[in-house]
Amino acid sequence: MALISLTLKHAKKYWTFIVAVLVLQLLSTIATLWLPSLNAQIIDKGIAVGDTDFIWRTGGIMLLAAFGQLIVAVGAVYFGARTAMGVGRDLRREVYRKVDSLSTLEATKFGAGTLITRGTNDVQQVQMLVLMTLNFMVSAPIMMIGGIVMALREDAGLSWLVWVSVAVLAVIVSLLVWRLLPLFRVMQDKVDAINGVLREQIMGIRVVRAFVREPFETKRYDVANREITDVSLKVGNIFVMMFPIIMMVLHLATAAVLWFGGYRVEAGDIQVGSLTAFLQYLMQILMAVMMGVFMTMMIPRAVVCAERIRELLDTESSQSFPDSETVASPAAGQIKFENVTFGFPGAEKPVIADASFVAEPGKTTAIIGSTGAGKTVLLNLMLRLYDPQEGSITIDGAPVDALTRAQLARTVSLVPQRPYLFGGTIASNLRFGRTDANDAELWEALRVAQGEDFVREKELGLEEPVSQGGTNVSGGQRQRLSIARALVAKPLVYLFDDSFSALDVATDARLRAALPDATEGATTIIVAQRVSTITEADQILVMEGGEIVGRGTHDELLATNEVYQEIVRSQLEEAEAA
Ligand code: UTP
Ligand code: MG
Repeated sequence: MALISLTLKHAKKYWTFIVAVLVLQLLSTIATLWLPSLNAQIIDKGIAVGDTDFIWRTGGIMLLAAFGQLIVAVGAVYFGARTAMGVGRDLRREVYRKVDSLSTLEATKFGAGTLITRGTNDVQQVQMLVLMTLNFMVSAPIMMIGGIVMALREDAGLSWLVWVSVAVLAVIVSLLVWRLLPLFRVMQDKVDAINGVLREQIMGIRVVRAFVREPFETKRYDVANREITDVSLKVGNIFVMMFPIIMMVLHLATAAVLWFGGYRVEAGDIQVGSLTAFLQYLMQILMAVMMGVFMTMMIPRAVVCAERIRELLDTESSQSFPDSETVASPAAGQIKFENVTFGFPGAEKPVIADASFVAEPGKTTAIIGSTGAGKTVLLNLMLRLYDPQEGSITIDGAPVDALTRAQLARTVSLVPQRPYLFGGTIASNLRFGRTDANDAELWEALRVAQGEDFVREKELGLEEPVSQGGTNVSGGQRQRLSIARALVAKPLVYLFDDSFSALDVATDARLRAALPDATEGATTIIVAQRVSTITEADQILVMEGGEIVGRGTHDELLATNEVYQEIVRSQLEEAEAA
């Protein structure tokens, strides 16, 4: 079972703590069980006969026992918490590492939402159960059995009261828990639902605003919100009932003990002190029963969570990177595709079909093609965001899958089509690919990327805060920062995926004029929409439906390639229309 195997695996490390918890809890329970009987002795052998000496002596022992019990109980909770939190931390770390090692394909299949929940909430549920188990696993059974033994020792004649009240309490609490469990499950679903609605609304806030969808979205949220309120109210109602009912059982049990015990005291069968002790033991037994039931209540939820974590941890990444460098790092940056074919799992048609080309260092290779032609996927293959099913991709003759992650990252820098910036500052984002770059280098990269002016205008300059995803800068600014980020890294290979689309024609021209100097000697691959952006390229690849249907310089393609001619014609018409 996932819960047991997961927790045992991680708890092993903390076995010393666990032994400490067990021993301390054993001591604490023994002390707790001892106290009522000491109390009984004070009453029966001290107060009843007027032996003050005995009262002092036994009272002193009681005080010591109570104090000792306090200390060991605190110790038990301390080590229990250390263990549970430690297990939680290790489990979270394992989940994080796993998520980190997943390939883009698996990560997308799970989805960000559930990966986050599994790494946080689910782990927390398991951690909670470990904590409760450590706190009650030892004490509840000992308290229960010990309590029964001690109670019977005080007065066997009243034993039927123990059985009756334990049975009544167990039945009542179980019934309530049985009603609660399905509600808890529904509640988890509703929490998921409300998170989902909220998440989508925050992510899509601009679209929601633009389409004035607030009333609709608000209603969607209200529905989810009302559902969760309803379930919570039902749960609340049961809890509200639970405590008075439990208290009632306890009080009725007390009354019964006093009632029947009173007769027995009168008859001289037991002493008053024994009756007091019996009553205290009965309370301890009932408490233990309650703790036991509550614990079992937590188990189903933790089981579900553990299974979800297990499922994630058992997912094997379809990609592996070598741990240490087995081939020399590329020194020139020649990219070579040989008969590369790639399709997304489950899709019928490959997205890249039999692609072969070479991109030489110091040269610019441009890729052009209609939307959905496979340009982005082609670039992603070079970075091993996906691995091809057939064919080989090499850099300076070394297969890309022989390079470590670090080697690959040092060699190739991508300016993605949808640039993403990380929470931090402009400087921290620019240094993403090379942490030791100095400010002058950052400014130089910004100058080339045409981002210098707007960063200079910022009050804090390079230290200007950037929000997660880069949502506090404009789309064009994000694109320029993302270009600068690639330039700072000074890789051998630059991949620009439609990186100039958000720039106006004049800025685009200035950027392209500055780029060759900055990327001197490097392999540059540019995906472009506008033919005007790539007329100077040393080699142009024309893509259509995942295939490379033409290659050559602008003039060659213009003379021979129909697809290219079509693209040029449509863009000319657009320009004329404008
Ligand atoms: P691309 O994303 O490579 O197209 O997707 P592109 O050439 O760059 O297009 P633009 O110019 O940016 O718009 C190629 C094909 O791969 C599929 C898409 O359906 C598309 O037809 N695809 C892409 C997937 O199936 N899953 C993905 O995650 C991405
Ligand atoms: Mg694309």
